[in-house]
Amino acid sequence: MASHCNRQYFLNPRLSLQLLALVGTFFVTIVTESAASIQLRGEVGGNVTFSCPTAKPNLKFLYFQRVEIFVNGYYQSKTASEIAELAWKNTIMDHDKTTMHMYNLNVSHHGEYQCLFQYTDSSATQKQVIHLNLTANYSKPAPTVHCSDENHRFSCLVTCASHDGYPVDKVTWNVPGSQMWTVLNSSEMNDPKTMMVNISSTAYFNCSNGNTSISCSVGNVSSDVFSVCAPIENPPVPHCPMIEAICAVVGITFTMLVLLLWWRCKKGQRGAAAVDFRRVNGCEEGNSPH
Ligand SMILES: *[C@@H]1O[C@H](CO)[C@@H](O)[C@H](O)[C@H]1NC(C)=O
Ligand SMILES: *[C@@H]1O[C@H](CO)[C@@H](O)[C@H](O)[C@H]1NC(C)=O
Ligand SMILES: *[C@@H]1O[C@H](CO)[C@@H](O)[C@H](O)[C@H]1NC(C)=O
Ligand SMILES: *[C@@H]1O[C@H](CO)[C@@H](O)[C@H](O)[C@H]1NC(C)=O
Ligand SMILES: *[C@@H]1O[C@H](CO)[C@@H](O)[C@H](O)[C@H]1NC(C)=O
Repeated sequence: MASHCNRQYFLNPRLSLQLLALVGTFFVTIVTESAASIQLRGEVGGNVTFSCPTAKPNLKFLYFQRVEIFVNGYYQSKTASEIAELAWKNTIMDHDKTTMHMYNLNVSHHGEYQCLFQYTDSSATQKQVIHLNLTANYSKPAPTVHCSDENHRFSCLVTCASHDGYPVDKVTWNVPGSQMWTVLNSSEMNDPKTMMVNISSTAYFNCSNGNTSISCSVGNVSSDVFSVCAPIENPPVPHCPMIEAICAVVGITFTMLVLLLWWRCKKGQRGAAAVDFRRVNGCEEGNSPH
């Protein structure tokens, strides 16, 4: 195997004393590092499985660490509950002693890990580097269009925004070549807690070439196609559920009133004692059969 032996001394000042006690040795140990690192992919909110390749089953210990901080592992001399006290709560070691499951991934879990292990018949420690690459899908980009017609120079400012993605990405614009336009600015905002990223881009459109259909994208996700520079005297009717609801209620009430009046008139025409009622309701006297 093409495993080149990168000899280095393994003594981590930040490694907790409990961990050294678990390993059962305070001596400086020689570490043999495997040449190829393992690349893992995960999604924020999802799970990932770390596997540390070992050649033999007789393990003295095998553990995963993150920048010298213990994550989880197996020690021949320790019980699972002793180890669980020190382990990350979002991890579980598999019964095979070489596999670790990590749950509820968030951006802070992105980065480099190491697996360190020793066989019972050797005091040499072996190391395997593992990279965890996390991604989160950006939301479908949402456009907002603001047009103005100052001094008959018609122009529009369009902003496309997409949120809660990882890592940083860019908004791209899909605009036909005939349009006169330019990107004014773009922004990236990290949520300080979740480290997820919101991005946006604002573009200026000179509308002298008229109405165009455009869209914007982030990665493989595109916005709906929308139009810029539509004639300003014809602004699109905003979709407002509240207004639609009010219209519906007014419409139904009006229809019911008309039906009620019509029904009363009809009834009045048939009923003998309906003359006064007809007058009140404005039914034509001429319609009366009397
Ligand atoms: C993110 O996007 C990829 C590729 O389009 C898709 O396979 C995956 O299911 C998406 N993840 C989530 C959490 O929606
Ligand atoms: C748009 O471009 C035309 C031609 O280049 C120019 O005359 C006009 O002033 C521009 N309009 C705006 C709003 O910049
Ligand atoms: C980008 O430019 C537009 C127009 O000048 C402005 O309204 C907006 O606040 C700017 N956005 C950022 C993130 O600077
Ligand atoms: C990112 O966008 C989401 C949804 O619009 C919002 O709730 C959140 O506060 C934004 N975060 C930042 C850092 O702007
Ligand atoms: C976008 O799609 C291409 C192929 O359609 C795929 O190879 C690539 O991984 C996708 N990118 C993302 C960010 O989903």
